[in-house]
Amino acid sequence: MSKQMSHLDNIPSTPGKFKMDKSPYIHNRLRWHSSLVKLTFWSFIFLGLILIFFFRSPSSNPLPQDPSRRSLRTYNWGGPSWEKRVRSSARVRSRNGISVLVTGAAGFVGTHVSAALKRRGDGVLGLDNFNDYYDPSLKRARQALLERTGVFIVEGDINDSTLLRKLFEVVAFTHVMHLAAQAGVRYAMENPGSYVHSNIAGFVSLLEVCKSANPQPSIVWASSSSVYGLNTKVPFSERDRTDQPASLYAATKKAGEEIAHTYNHIYGLSLTGLRFFTVYGPWGRPDMAYFFFTRDILKGKSIPIFEAANHGTVARDFTYIDDIVKGCLGALDTAEKSTGSGGKKKGPAQLRVYNLGNTSPVPVSDLVSILERLLKVNAKRNIMKLPRNGDVQFTHANISLAQRELGYKPTTDLQTGLKKFVRWYLSYYSGGKKAAG
Ligand SMILES: NC(=O)c1ccc[n+]([C@@H]2O[C@H](COP(=O)([O-])OP(=O)(O)OC[C@H]3O[C@@H](n4cnc5c(N)ncnc54)[C@H](O)[C@@H]3O)[C@@H](O)[C@H]2O)c1
Repeated sequence: MSKQMSHLDNIPSTPGKFKMDKSPYIHNRLRWHSSLVKLTFWSFIFLGLILIFFFRSPSSNPLPQDPSRRSLRTYNWGGPSWEKRVRSSARVRSRNGISVLVTGAAGFVGTHVSAALKRRGDGVLGLDNFNDYYDPSLKRARQALLERTGVFIVEGDINDSTLLRKLFEVVAFTHVMHLAAQAGVRYAMENPGSYVHSNIAGFVSLLEVCKSANPQPSIVWASSSSVYGLNTKVPFSERDRTDQPASLYAATKKAGEEIAHTYNHIYGLSLTGLRFFTVYGPWGRPDMAYFFFTRDILKGKSIPIFEAANHGTVARDFTYIDDIVKGCLGALDTAEKSTGSGGKKKGPAQLRVYNLGNTSPVPVSDLVSILERLLKVNAKRNIMKLPRNGDVQFTHANISLAQRELGYKPTTDLQTGLKKFVRWYLSYYSGGKKAAG
């Protein structure tokens, strides 16, 4: 393109200065040549426009079917000023502080965990690919929030092992808090590849780099209560069976737990999996029921409330974000060092799994009643049968193991937590400046 452009630039713009050869053969050649140049030039312009349209235009379908679309994106990273920002963000500023790479830092849980670590004086570097599974402007707003506290989020994908290796070259992370994932149970039926891409391939790519890092970091990562799947024994204990996932999302989280076992066994990586139970709170995820119920109640739209067979109650062990953050910090602080070096295991390493829930499941209809009171608007309830698309009827965590070993003690009930969420929601989306999804 630039070659063609410079060729075009060489043709004088004032015809009088260019002595035209009158020979018809040369004249024809010149005309033919200039048409070819024009044709090539416009082809490039056309191609360029198509590429710009493909990469920049907002998708008519906000949830793209092709997971590779996300991995096709290229991100700008590298260079001295970028490295300086990485170093400064990851610098430990307190005695005995740790330096943590937080994947999924622009996500709901990632933002809160990153901010809490930074507040204690730990070094924190974020990594996120800012995908459009839900409104990316919310991720950008969280990024701006973290930026103000001194946390830099590197834009990139956990499948990019060159980037990951570079990050470990620049910073000797002591810990990785791995929260990047394709979340959501129902979306797995629309875009299964995105779950494999982020939750399986991405996790392996991260572990591969961690295993070769020197020193190896300790890793805490987010599994999910969904691994309990069709298990009916309540409350769910870490010892219960987890071999009957009800969704592909759950299956990829369960696969993650098995992959963690392998990397712990072969390479001596210290790994702690946290099974979160329905996390909610300010800066939350728009695809979750409490969030879109709030939006739809305010809009006067009807909201679907699922019930199980025989009018069975659907209930969730809703866990407030601040409690989850304390659990994450407890897991990081009690994580032992990995034992391998240079990709080789030197001794047995820690391998743990914990439930992080609230131990008090609440029927979804009660959640709606609380929202009605807080929003001072009556909801239009549309009672529907629980579809068989991955959601389970009931979740309830037994948290005694996390209580004992991580000092985990949730303190926020649903009423209190939702009050904080609603206050945030109304101020974030106030004055019609932004519209939720
Ligand atoms: N919120 C919950 O109720 C809940 C419950 C159980 C488990 N979890 C797990 O906790 C973690 C955090 O969840 P969340 O609610 O904050 O979700 P989230 O979607 O808000 O955050 C995940 C972040 O990861 C990023 N990401 C996804 N794929 C990536 C990739 N390949 N490379 C780089 N970044 C990528 C996304 O852009 C997003 O910002 C996830 O692993 C999720 O599966 C959450």
